[in-house]
Amino acid sequence: MMKVVIAKSAVILLLVVGASFLLSAHDVISTKITWNREISRIVYKRCASCHRDGGSASDIKLMTYQDARPWAKAIKEEVLERRMPPFAAVKGFGEVQDQEALTQEEMHLIADWVEGGSPEGDDPSLLPKPPVFDSAEKGVAANVKAAATSASAKPGTEIIADGSLTLKAPLTLIGARAGAMTEGSSVQAVAQMPDGEIRPLIWIYDYKPKYDRAYYFEKPLTFPAGTKIEVYPAGGGTLALLAKK
Ligand code: HEC
Repeated sequence: MMKVVIAKSAVILLLVVGASFLLSAHDVISTKITWNREISRIVYKRCASCHRDGGSASDIKLMTYQDARPWAKAIKEEVLERRMPPFAAVKGFGEVQDQEALTQEEMHLIADWVEGGSPEGDDPSLLPKPPVFDSAEKGVAANVKAAATSASAKPGTEIIADGSLTLKAPLTLIGARAGAMTEGSSVQAVAQMPDGEIRPLIWIYDYKPKYDRAYYFEKPLTFPAGTKIEVYPAGGGTLALLAKK
């Protein structure tokens, strides 16, 4: 009889301890990684071009700890699933820059920070200067600059490629973006040189209008007159080729 009572109270004690642990679990900080030191730097470099006032995702601002903290869990998920930063060009088809992609180490830092309670840190002097976007030349990392430009001003000239296009004069392309594409559609563009050589340019896969952005090639590509630019599938949508002025 006695034994049963002890067992019962042990169970109750466990339940009580367990519940209080759950209640306080999200306030327990179990990581040394902080917003002030590591995370702000990653976000400023990889995410700020869109997640700020005036950016394409200004409804989800991530520029300060106060703004970013409520999104911590979503940030971890989006980053680990590689949905953020958005990149719809298929890797290995053409030579498209992906300078905003997070390194493995940055992904680990974000995951550890979120799992460890997303602390701000207690030394505000570690915070980096927030990136500046309106004057592109002022101390902004090159990748941020490219993304900022792509979100607003369009550098160079846009040439809409729809089906097949033959160049009447030499042309230097620096990148491409979706032209008229519908949600979920995919298009590929290749250049066929007059000598028959075929160069893949870009393949935009599963296009999402809300993540629309420009993609830049690793280096500008110059094509001679007579080059044929083909967009597949015919009628699948158009691409805007970004040509050097
Ligand atoms: C090229 C622009 C761009 C970049 C760069 C970018 N995002 Fe986003 N992000 C968006 C857009 C657009 C949305 C959708 C906003 C909406 O639904 O209103 C979004 C949505 C999100 C969401 C919300 C997802 C959800 O619906 O729950 C999170 C979290 C997020 N981004 C985190 C990040 C992080 C972290 C980075 C950097 C590592 C990043 N983003 C980089 C454009 C960007």
